[in-house]
Amino acid sequence: MPTSATIEVSLGDRSYPIVIGQGLLDGGFELSPFIHGGDCLVVSNETVAPLYLDRLLPNLAGRDVSSLNLPDGESFKTVATMQTILDRLVSSGANRDTTVIALGGGVVGDIAGFAAACYMRGVAFIQVPTTLLAQVDSSVGGKTGVNHEMGKNLVGAFHQPQVVLIDTNTLDTLPERELRAGLAEVVKYGAICDPAFFEWLEENMPALLDKDAQALAHAIQRSCELKAAVVADDEREAGRRAILNFGHTFGHAIEHCLGYGEWLHGEAVAAGMIMAAELSGIEADATTRLRNLLASAGLPTTPPAIDSERWHDAMGMDKKVQQKQLRFVLLRTLGDAWITSDYDEGRLQALTGAGR
Ligand code: NAD
Ligand code: GLY
Repeated sequence: MPTSATIEVSLGDRSYPIVIGQGLLDGGFELSPFIHGGDCLVVSNETVAPLYLDRLLPNLAGRDVSSLNLPDGESFKTVATMQTILDRLVSSGANRDTTVIALGGGVVGDIAGFAAACYMRGVAFIQVPTTLLAQVDSSVGGKTGVNHEMGKNLVGAFHQPQVVLIDTNTLDTLPERELRAGLAEVVKYGAICDPAFFEWLEENMPALLDKDAQALAHAIQRSCELKAAVVADDEREAGRRAILNFGHTFGHAIEHCLGYGEWLHGEAVAAGMIMAAELSGIEADATTRLRNLLASAGLPTTPPAIDSERWHDAMGMDKKVQQKQLRFVLLRTLGDAWITSDYDEGRLQALTGAGR
């Protein structure tokens, strides 16, 4: 029998459950109650579909299901790829009661979700995340979108799913480098809002890297609980939700400057979190703990070489910029983050060479 836990994302009439467990594919959790119309389009990619598409179909019993596989990789997270989903929806005669189901990592989820947000001004959407990063972060909260040649995730929409279905057994096939990248976002939650979880991660990182089922289940559940609470409080990032972007101003700049896919998103965020901790000016011991935890997960803790002009331009495209002012998510201490435009200019210069 599959085991599962359910976390509610409380957003009034856009509320939805995150269902987490082992063995939820292969018919272990019925998705039909979340599909209000007739047909569904499962959007996956050339890597994930051969592994999991057939195993998702029993969860959709009684539904008319078709599928579309995208090319794999962050470099395909573009408007052009999103257009192929729209083309398929149009050519198949899909109407407003269609449901789009994303089966894959954050790239598939973000693109498919954006297509669902746009098609006929919005059709229903379901997330079935298969990477650790997608299970702890990108499948929850309704941010969808694609990259633009000028910057990361610049084009998108908020569009909440009907349900997030997390079968943790899908992590069995996840490459080790991708697991490590997902752990960066897990560490993020401890760093920004849960010092006890940070301590738990310090003790349990070896078990997580070993894919210990109990440790992974706890890390995924706690991450989803923390994200669900932040999103319920501030769905459209008017304020507090921005703390989920800790390390991302630097991380997105790294991804953009190196070329999408060179460093994985989680790797760039890991180095970005150390830069943000240094910009915060918190006690050295706290930054050392963060660095040690990320290093123990095999993640980079120093940025690649990027010249100051490129840092400046890439950070200037960050979505948190207001009135041409950079804003950063900084730490007051480990486990307590805030967003501010009042950062130390000298420290930023030292980190990137880029000034105001
Ligand atoms: P990804 O989607 O590229 O997946 C990583 C790799 O793993 C891909 O090659 C994929 O095909 C493969 N894969 C997926 N599941 C697998 C499995 N079970 N077994 C074997 N291989 C598998 O990368 P990601 O780390 O999942 O997501 C990164 C993306 O998520 C970035 O574009 C980032 O911007 C986005 N993101 C979005 C949000 C949000 O709130 N929407 C939050 C964080 C990150
Ligand atoms: N990953 C950032 C957010 O969902 O807000």
